[in-house]
Amino acid sequence: MDTFESIRTKLDIREFSSGDVSQEIKLKVLEAARLTGTGLNTQHWRFVVAEDKENIKKLADDSTSGGWVVNCNFAIIILTNPKYDFHMIDAGRVLQNMQLTAWNYGVASGIFTGIKEDKFRKDFEIPPELNVTAIIGFGYPLRKLTGGGKNRLSLRELVFNEKYGNLNTA
Ligand SMILES: Cc1cc2nc3c(=O)[nH]c(=O)nc-3n(C[C@H](O)[C@H](O)[C@H](O)COP(=O)(O)O)c2cc1C
Repeated sequence: MDTFESIRTKLDIREFSSGDVSQEIKLKVLEAARLTGTGLNTQHWRFVVAEDKENIKKLADDSTSGGWVVNCNFAIIILTNPKYDFHMIDAGRVLQNMQLTAWNYGVASGIFTGIKEDKFRKDFEIPPELNVTAIIGFGYPLRKLTGGGKNRLSLRELVFNEKYGNLNTA
């Protein structure tokens, strides 16, 4: 899929069908993560893949804003090291790359960030030096997605010419 088309049509999805995502696609998603750049090339992040239904249920139980993950096919926990000021930028880049790679194969995904910290860390044996920054749930979408209807501000509201406040006329 053309990169812009992929960005245009990708939504954050919270309803998945029961279809299995192949190991090949899962590997592609992880490879996209591995290839993503980090600040100073620190590669401080680590990824925990949850495929087991019991663990996916634990993810849902341990979340405060992602109960929907219970119906995903597999999930990836993104861990980043907060000793690097830019660790959240790194997290944003890698999660978007993983989501777009999945979407290239028709696999939808959604993310959540709210967790019950202590329980989550215990259940997934997260080391103290790493933050649980985001969790992505992947799966085939329950409904056909057309890419229409994104709720976004217009470029006129978002972009300025040369200095903040100058109306963009493009
Ligand atoms: C930093 C960040 C945190 C998010 N946290 C959650 C979350 O905790 N739970 C959730 O269901 N969605 C979460 N989302 C998904 C957003 O709600 C979603 O990206 C936004 O509504 C746009 O969705 P759309 O691309 O499908 O239009 C988060 C997204 C981002 C970028």
